[in-house]
Amino acid sequence: MAKFDPTKRDSFGTKFGVIAAAAGSAVGLGNIWRFPYVAGENGGGAFILIYLLFIIAIGIPVMLSEFTIGRRAKRNAFGSFKRLAPNTYWYLIGLLGVVAAFVILSFYSTVAGWTLEYIYLSFSNAFAEKTPDQLTTMFETFKAGTFRPILWQLFFMVLTAWIVIAGVKKGIEKYAKILMPILLLLIIVLDIRAITLPGASEGLDFLFRPDFSKLNTNSILEALGQAFFSLSIGMGTLITYGSYINKKQNLTSTAINVTAADTIIAILAGVAIFPAVFAFGIEPNAGPDLIFRTLPNIFQQMPGGYFFSLIFFILLGVAALTSSISVLEVVVAYFVEELGMLRKRATIVAAVSITALGILSTMSWGVMDDVRIFDFNIFELLDFTASSVFLPIGGVFIVVFLGWHLGKRNIKEEITSDGLYKAKLINLFVFIIKFLAPIAIAMVFLHGIGLLKF
Ligand code: PHE
Repeated sequence: MAKFDPTKRDSFGTKFGVIAAAAGSAVGLGNIWRFPYVAGENGGGAFILIYLLFIIAIGIPVMLSEFTIGRRAKRNAFGSFKRLAPNTYWYLIGLLGVVAAFVILSFYSTVAGWTLEYIYLSFSNAFAEKTPDQLTTMFETFKAGTFRPILWQLFFMVLTAWIVIAGVKKGIEKYAKILMPILLLLIIVLDIRAITLPGASEGLDFLFRPDFSKLNTNSILEALGQAFFSLSIGMGTLITYGSYINKKQNLTSTAINVTAADTIIAILAGVAIFPAVFAFGIEPNAGPDLIFRTLPNIFQQMPGGYFFSLIFFILLGVAALTSSISVLEVVVAYFVEELGMLRKRATIVAAVSITALGILSTMSWGVMDDVRIFDFNIFELLDFTASSVFLPIGGVFIVVFLGWHLGKRNIKEEITSDGLYKAKLINLFVFIIKFLAPIAIAMVFLHGIGLLKF
């Protein structure tokens, strides 16, 4: 087997490239598909307020911690811990990250496959003149099928693997740079159409008027899980990406920019969806189906809807792709650097095994619907385990590792790029990662799974 040579590691080229790639990882189905439906299931405004609080108090610090660890170690998620803490058990966090990547990509590719079907449906003008009910049936029938959803999922995984094989600079960075800004523009156009629909104000009320009585016991953990999922933190994706960032870049501003971009896109997606949800009489708690049932109605009601719909789903597919490559990269970097596999072979082995699990997740909406564990189907179980369990646990250990093991002197050196940048808030940051974030995450987690009652 080819031995990995650390002097030949790939890296990101430009400053904008780093931000685009990390934002490309963060911005994806998590913002446009998952955020609206999870917010909808948890009653809207109050949930979003808690979500925003978590993004600022926990999300940014965890993201900055991941960048710091990755750039310091210049290794994959697993190898970074081995390198910075040799002969300890810290590498287990890296291993948890690799497992989380496996689980996330398996169900992520299901939804990415749905997106590809919707590109096809847009292209064939299938939404034209359909009522909201007919559009719902259209989605339900497709989702419950076997052949088509799996075919699209396979297609998506092939695309993901293909870009990952191409490598960091020529693959990931190149695509992210062009396509992300176009997506933002298109969502803004959708927002304008949505807020001028008759009855839009009900949707905006739902989004922005906090009503804390609508939260259930699980809501707070869901908000935390959504924050982790959406920012791509807690499993070493951004440790891996951090390891490709060169020493001259400012990690703090990168983390803040990426978080801001991710959050703005999620909120804008909510603004596009909820006015339409109420205008077309869809239930806000419709779950994972929400955007696929809602958006076609909006497209139908706007001039040039055919093209908007087509471009929108293409860009959503691309956003999913720039995220899925970052998930696959975690596994591939581990296989290459720790197990000495060639990049191409590592990618194929990872993609094939993830797809095998992913097929089960896709079929759990159809023929395997009756396989239930704690009332969850396979898809829901994989999603819950990854987002609400693995990522928060990973997050705790990542910040604890940085705060307690690596220590302030190392942190300062890395965050200031050896004195090139100022780090005015370093004391606050160290306080958050040593105390506030781990305690807060642990409490939310234990409360959410019912081990702790307030
Ligand atoms: N953040 C991505 C999204 O919002 C999903 C993701 C999760 C990517 C975890 C990497 C790691 O779609």
